[in-house]
Formats: sequence, structure tokens, C-alpha cells
Amino acid sequence: MKESQFGFAYEVYTDISELNEKDAWLLNEARNITEQAYAPYSNFHVGTMAILENGEIVAGTNQENASYPVGICAERVLLGSAATIHPGVPIVSMAVSYKSKENESDHPISPCGMCRQALLEYETRSKKPIRLILSGQEGKVYIIKTASHLLPFAFTSDELI
Ligand code: THU
Repeated sequence: MKESQFGFAYEVYTDISELNEKDAWLLNEARNITEQAYAPYSNFHVGTMAILENGEIVAGTNQENASYPVGICAERVLLGSAATIHPGVPIVSMAVSYKSKENESDHPISPCGMCRQALLEYETRSKKPIRLILSGQEGKVYIIKTASHLLPFAFTSDELI
């Protein structure tokens, strides 16, 4: 028997003021776009904003439904838009933020399991890592080099060939 390990390094910033200008701008846009979320059931409004390799910007917000499982996360709304409006153009960085009616928004959240799977396949498809910038409306910011770090031992299309 041999024990193996998995780990990854990520960057932690005290707040948005420590980011470079581009990242700070993207995060601010993600913070603001939470206003467009449709989240009357969870009251948890998520906003995502991405910059693509060609400099275009794409946004996403969570869109819920009275039939709860129909709702879709902000990250996957963004991925669908990006693939449709700018086919074949890789995403360079994606900022994710949120606003909650119930709680403070003072710490980063990270994508749910389903979104991690979707992000991973988007990376594979466009042959480029998606850099994640995660933060609430204020406070700490995490920067993760590639979404794949969030999904070790992933199931991929390699298994289906
Ligand atoms: N949600 C997102 O949009 N992204 C995440 O990363 C986590 C969760 C949404 C799904 C649901 O509409 C609400 O947040 C509460 O789970």
C-alpha cells in the first residue's frame, strides 16, 4: 500500500484593494451583477463575471424556479452564455461573488459540485485553465489558478472513449 496526497496552492488576499486593477475590476462587476440574480426562494444572489481571451466580458447570475431543481447556478449560466456568444474563445478569469438577504457577504464562496464539473469540462474543451477569483461583497479574496483544482479525481470524457 502506498498513501497518496492531493493538495493545491491558492492565493489569499485581505481584500479587493490588494488585487491588480484588472482583477479588482472583474470582481467588482461580479459583486454588482448579483443584483440581476433571480433568487426569491433561497434569497442567495450569486453573480459571476468572466473575461475571455479576446477581451470580451460575459456575466452570469443564478436563476431559480418554483420547481426548485430547475434553478441554475450563476457559473453555469455564464458558461452557457460564453459558449453561445463567443464559441471557441477560452475564458481566462472568472470572478464569483454573492449577496445574501439572511447573512453577511464577507467571505468567499466556491462553486458547487455540479458547477465544478461544468467548469472542468469547459477548461478541457477550450484547452485553457479558468482562473477563479472568489469573494463576497467585502473581505477576503481567494484566487485559484484553475477550476480543476477544485475537482480532484474528476470523471471526464476520457472514460467514454
Ligand atoms: N448558487 C450559485 O449560483 N453558485 C454557487 O456557486 C453556489 C450556489 C446558487 C444556487 C441557488 O440558486 C442559490 O445559490 C442557493 O444555493
